[in-house]
Amino acid sequence: MISPRILWILLMTYFSWKGVMTLDREACMPIRLSPSRQDSLPDVETLRIQRGLPGKAGGFGPVGPQGAQGPRGLPGTCACDPSEIAQIHVFLGNITAKLESLIALHHYALKVDQCDHMPCKNGGTCINDGNSYICNCTDGYEGNDCSIRIQCVVPSAPNNGTISRESGQLVPYKENITYRCNDRHVVAYEVNNFLVTTCQEIKQWTKDTPVCVVDDCNSGSCSGRGTCINQIGRTICECDEGYGRSDCSVQNNPCDLSPCGQRGVCVREEGMNYTCRCLAGYHGKNCEINIASDCVRAVGMEDGRVANNDITASRSHSRWPPHNARLSQAGSWLSPHPPQRDDWLQVDLKTSTTVVAVATQGHSYGSYWTTSYKIAHGFTENDLQIIQNNQGQDLIFQGNRDYNSVVRNNFPIPVTARYFRILVQTWNDYYASLRVEYYSC
Ligand SMILES: *[C@@H]1O[C@H](CO)[C@@H](O)[C@H](O)[C@H]1NC(C)=O
Ligand SMILES: *[C@@H]1O[C@H](CO)[C@@H](O)[C@H](O)[C@H]1NC(C)=O
Ligand SMILES: *[C@@H]1O[C@H](CO)[C@@H](O)[C@H](O)[C@H]1NC(C)=O
Ligand SMILES: *[C@@H]1O[C@H](CO)[C@@H](O)[C@H](O)[C@H]1NC(C)=O
Ligand SMILES: *[C@@H]1O[C@H](CO)[C@@H](O)[C@H](O)[C@H]1NC(C)=O
Repeated sequence: MISPRILWILLMTYFSWKGVMTLDREACMPIRLSPSRQDSLPDVETLRIQRGLPGKAGGFGPVGPQGAQGPRGLPGTCACDPSEIAQIHVFLGNITAKLESLIALHHYALKVDQCDHMPCKNGGTCINDGNSYICNCTDGYEGNDCSIRIQCVVPSAPNNGTISRESGQLVPYKENITYRCNDRHVVAYEVNNFLVTTCQEIKQWTKDTPVCVVDDCNSGSCSGRGTCINQIGRTICECDEGYGRSDCSVQNNPCDLSPCGQRGVCVREEGMNYTCRCLAGYHGKNCEINIASDCVRAVGMEDGRVANNDITASRSHSRWPPHNARLSQAGSWLSPHPPQRDDWLQVDLKTSTTVVAVATQGHSYGSYWTTSYKIAHGFTENDLQIIQNNQGQDLIFQGNRDYNSVVRNNFPIPVTARYFRILVQTWNDYYASLRVEYYSC
């Protein structure tokens, strides 16, 4: 597709061959003929552009052999030399068209560099888009050629206030003006007596003219526990955290928001702090952790992350040492016969670990399992504590009822320790037997 503009230039070029070309005052067509082209330009005369057409220095002039003999250097003419044909430049208004050669001219090949004459002002960048150009203006300027400065009109001062520039003045893009309220007045809805606003690219201010109201806030406002803000005809308080009511006079109770839900009992503490005392089976700041469903992360008995050496016992059957006490694996740990109450099996988790539950099985070959046990825990092996019920008695966990089913017991509260020890209380048949896993959240 040839744009109308190029077509127009082409037509003008065409008519110039017929000697009827007319150009506006801005037009200029310096023509140089190169030696190599000279012979191949039989029609060069037909390209003649009327001598003496008004134009810039280096403007129109005769073309071809005649041109070479024509007057040179006259105002409004080109210094045309037939030995220099190389390019033809056509200037039409602010559009520059460049003909690479007369041969190209024959084929109407016209290259237009719209940005040649630097049309964008004030540092704007010219972008040539083929048939025209676009100016990408720098900040603060606009218009096709970036010649228009972006400015905002200074509005009037507010009632009971002043403005930092004269109303009606023009202020450039990005500059600020400051509104101030008179003595004992403040900007409505704000805490300050001033307001800064900035001229935007859309020629509008970032903030509207404020309203200055009488300052009704004082040191006693908001019970000293909030920020006082003037509105028109009244004040409002933004209370500090933990305080409520319109004047911040009432301390909020964090437990009113029921942070522990039905899962625990909320206990109020300083300020907006609280503690949840969780019911059995729940854990976490807001008792949000359901131990049975959320705490299934094994400490590593079953999958071997706990090393053999770290599983020990008070006594063991010679064929069934402690490291056989891994949940779901073959065999189990066995006490020697006869078992004794408080025979124990211990795991060393190496680091402080919060454990919430224990699961046990009996011997995988049958007959032997542990029917009840206690749990002891601690950070050193010789200072262990037994998990107790809320009456302060050692808690007896109900263990297995057959040799293979897994029975999981949640601790009444999560226990953080390095050593965990099962103390056998009752057992089935000839030996006490255990396969074990512990769980955290
Ligand atoms: C050409 O440029 C001049 C100044 O450089 C400007 O005044 C004039 O409006 C421009 N003409 C067009 C058609 O853009
Ligand atoms: C205009 O100039 C800006 C800043 O230099 C640049 O980020 C943006 O891409 C330019 N726009 C175009 C269309 O080139
Ligand atoms: C504030 O301005 C209003 C309107 O101009 C005027 O009626 C009022 O008296 C002024 N208030 C004070 C305290 O100056
Ligand atoms: C105008 O005010 C804004 C914010 O209030 C500030 O970041 C900016 O630097 C100010 N501009 C001038 C030119 O002072
Ligand atoms: C509330 O608890 C946080 C940390 O839990 C503490 O920093 C803050 O001092 C407490 N607030 C009060 C009023 O005790």
